[in-house]
Amino acid sequence: MAILKIARMGHPVLAEMCASVRDPSAPEIRRLIADMIETMGDANGAGLAAPQVHVPLRIVIFQAPDARSAAGLDETEAFDHTAPLTILINPLIEVLDASPEGGWEGCLSVPGLRGWVERPRHIRYSGLDVDGHRVQRSARGFHARVVQHECDHIDGVVYPQRMRDLSKLIFESEYRHWIEQQDAGQQAAQ
Ligand code: NI
Repeated sequence: MAILKIARMGHPVLAEMCASVRDPSAPEIRRLIADMIETMGDANGAGLAAPQVHVPLRIVIFQAPDARSAAGLDETEAFDHTAPLTILINPLIEVLDASPEGGWEGCLSVPGLRGWVERPRHIRYSGLDVDGHRVQRSARGFHARVVQHECDHIDGVVYPQRMRDLSKLIFESEYRHWIEQQDAGQQAAQ
């Protein structure tokens, strides 16, 4: 396994429409996915798409842990909000509720920045895992957001292209200072 170099916004590979994977269980695909998992862990990311490691194929990995998104939800709803480490090859997204939900996003290919992005709030997605088995789930909250963000990458789209208000493209340090602290204050006040 190896930690791979991450392409940054402006590299042409991030603007490509990626090709489908013909054989999900091919040894080179398994190796690539193992390296993507190691790279995402090293960079402390929630998701990673193959073009971000300079491979223009339709592969994404992501996770949506409980602590990040499901606090305070009942069990049925929480299920939609969380996902274990998931590998999706040739993914497809179906929008179940297109009404927009806004959230702050970051990207390993756009280091140091955060942006406010509105996306459909409820989706169903499917794809193949590394053994060629079909995965299908519905997703809301951070889970829905991370899947849509990663699947954008394999269509050559980086999150700032989804933004409608560029005044909400800010530095991570300012996000921590002004947004995260404010959120924490609001939670404490409730
Ligand atoms: Ni990204």
